[in-house]
Amino acid sequence: MNTSRGLLATALLALLLVPRDGAAQALVNPATEKKIDALLAQMTLEEKVGQLNQYSSPFDVTGPPPGAGAQKAAYEQIRTGLVGSMLNVNGAAATRKAQQLAVENSRLKIPMIFGYDVIHGYKTIFPVPLGEAASWDPAAVERSARVAATEAAAAGLHWTFGPMVDIARDARWGRIMEGSGEDPFLGAQMAAARVRGFQGKSLAAVDTIAACAKHYAAYGFAEAGRDYNTVDISENTLRNVVLPPFKAAADAGVATFMNSFNEIGGIPATGSVHLQRDILKGEWGFEGFVVSDWGSIAEMVRHGFSEDLAQAAQQALTAGSDMDMEGRAYIGHLASLVRAGRIDVKLVDDAVRRILRVKFALGLFDDPYRYSDEAREQAATLTPANLAAARDVARRSIVLLKNDGVLPLDKAVRTIAVIGPLADDKDTPLGNWRGQGAANSAVSLLEGVKAAVTPGTRVIYAVGATLVTSPRNFMTPTVYNTSDRSRFPAAVEAARSADVVLLAIGEDAFQSGEGRSQAEIGLKGLQDELVRAVLEANKKVVVVLMSGRPLTIGHVAEAVPAMLEAWLLGSQSGHAIADVLFGDYNPSGKLPVSFPRDVGQEPLYYNFKSTGRPGPEKGVTWSHYTDMSNDPLFPFGFGLSYTTFTYSAPRLSATEIARDGELKVSVTVTNSGRRAGVEIAQLYVRDLVGSVTRPVKELKGFERVELAPGQARDVTFTIKPADLAFYTARGRWEAEPGAFRVFVGGNSRDLKEASFTLR
Ligand code: NOJ
Repeated sequence: MNTSRGLLATALLALLLVPRDGAAQALVNPATEKKIDALLAQMTLEEKVGQLNQYSSPFDVTGPPPGAGAQKAAYEQIRTGLVGSMLNVNGAAATRKAQQLAVENSRLKIPMIFGYDVIHGYKTIFPVPLGEAASWDPAAVERSARVAATEAAAAGLHWTFGPMVDIARDARWGRIMEGSGEDPFLGAQMAAARVRGFQGKSLAAVDTIAACAKHYAAYGFAEAGRDYNTVDISENTLRNVVLPPFKAAADAGVATFMNSFNEIGGIPATGSVHLQRDILKGEWGFEGFVVSDWGSIAEMVRHGFSEDLAQAAQQALTAGSDMDMEGRAYIGHLASLVRAGRIDVKLVDDAVRRILRVKFALGLFDDPYRYSDEAREQAATLTPANLAAARDVARRSIVLLKNDGVLPLDKAVRTIAVIGPLADDKDTPLGNWRGQGAANSAVSLLEGVKAAVTPGTRVIYAVGATLVTSPRNFMTPTVYNTSDRSRFPAAVEAARSADVVLLAIGEDAFQSGEGRSQAEIGLKGLQDELVRAVLEANKKVVVVLMSGRPLTIGHVAEAVPAMLEAWLLGSQSGHAIADVLFGDYNPSGKLPVSFPRDVGQEPLYYNFKSTGRPGPEKGVTWSHYTDMSNDPLFPFGFGLSYTTFTYSAPRLSATEIARDGELKVSVTVTNSGRRAGVEIAQLYVRDLVGSVTRPVKELKGFERVELAPGQARDVTFTIKPADLAFYTARGRWEAEPGAFRVFVGGNSRDLKEASFTLR
């Protein structure tokens, strides 16, 4: 097809596929299915299997790699149409070259689809997803994904391996930074927002990319928080806790899913018929494709689930894994499995069809190079608007954990000391999974502070102690500085001479992320010592915590007058933190995950079950520790503001809901302080008796309420029976009649309650 006709066809397709407002884009339409039928009819078995084959870019695609090794073989496979997709090819020029290799040489000229981990930004880096979830602001999170998609698409990418929607209840798990925390309801809102942001209104637009809900499923439930470890959870937990964000992504029209490395109940997720065929493609009617995680088909051999790579291929395809990421199981074995009658070719055809659907929806058949546009790549990347969006989302993500009145600071403060290993760190704020964010490109806290204060203010900087001594990157384990105290004296001196101290501590960029589980989640290296030394010199210390996970920082929180959680906030980190410190932005973030007092409390989450011994009750043996409270240090949903908010008791429109009825829960939220501010009002429900036991409370709604000082506003939540549904003992998603409690408040602990009945 010539280019102008191609573009016209794409535009028409875009119009056809644009969903009504709020509705998800459909991947299936009769015209495309016909084209796929025609293609399938022409394809050899090998070409079909090729579509299911995905390689990482190991070589410079501009020329054949020398020698006879695997790289050379891969290069030849691309030329002969045996590679359907690549990951890690980056930039408009490189993607164009790689695409040429496939399209100009292969028999059927089927374009490859290029995927990449665009997790929290492509070049303009946004807060890590856990941080963004702390905004409790789906619209902001959608904007973040939109910017990321615009930049990635201009670099020739078609597909991101995000959103990561794994529920995580264990802060030891390093990948907790990549998701939206512990709650299925908040997680579902964030999942849908990210899908909308990445995919926009139409996949056919040149600034949208296909999204991928991962890791399907239960990857976040690794025993003891150790990455890749065994998962053994019930169908009850799977359906009620793990799956809701995946379902929300599917309902939002996500084009792809990625399965996961872990086993569940003895079956590797990659080989799970139950997860992929029964639930995803069966019950949910998902029409896109499932990609394996990196080598996860091959890993089924090590799991002891498959005898060899051939059996792994057979089991994975049968289970519904459509594309093999770097496992080389499909390309090596599927064709012979079909010929030997061990796999029905219909399964291969179905997988190919699903992948082609997404390629058609992206417009790749009209113009395989439409995304690889060097001029757009230049113009659309790291723009002032994108950076402004990153700053805005970053400041919405900050959570004020403690404030004895020190904050906000006066910009005309005489002397301010900015101390700590992360104080002038321009790299850590980018976090792990930073796409193509350039190393050391973030605005450091020190830079942010200098840009915010008045010209007369003296800003003194002292590192105190470095945090890590190893090279910092994704591949090497972090090594902490535990011995070099040579720069302590300068830090103490800086603290002594300042009116106020900002102490930036926490985690290194690569302390969280894949394979970065930690058995201890306190402050590493010499940071605790540094905190003590600085506090001896000056009590007026504001701790700026940067981390990709909850940390056990109770002792620090107790000792300092103010503390905020600044996660790993991305490119504009320092400016966003300064916005909050100096009161240009009144903090509104709330924790998407419980902060433990001690690592021994993990896994820790607010929506636990009552147990038969709930206590604490006098004289009764209740489920507890004898050396520590059950309570978190900071509960889920918690976050302070520079103003205060009060809540009325909830008012209910009725005390009963009929099966087809609804109930309104209203609460008056009042700004009882002296500054304008935003409160995230939260609604929780408890189902008192169920056919299976129910959590002590579950988030069912939240709303951002912006209030001037003294202003009051009624917030009304609507509860329908569908909102009370769960996976019951009958194996259905349904609400059960009976008594409920409803709670409203500003976090999961401090709540006012009322009761109602579902008829
Ligand atoms: C493995 C990770 O688990 C997954 O999240 C990622 O998308 C792939 N590698 C590709 O980088």
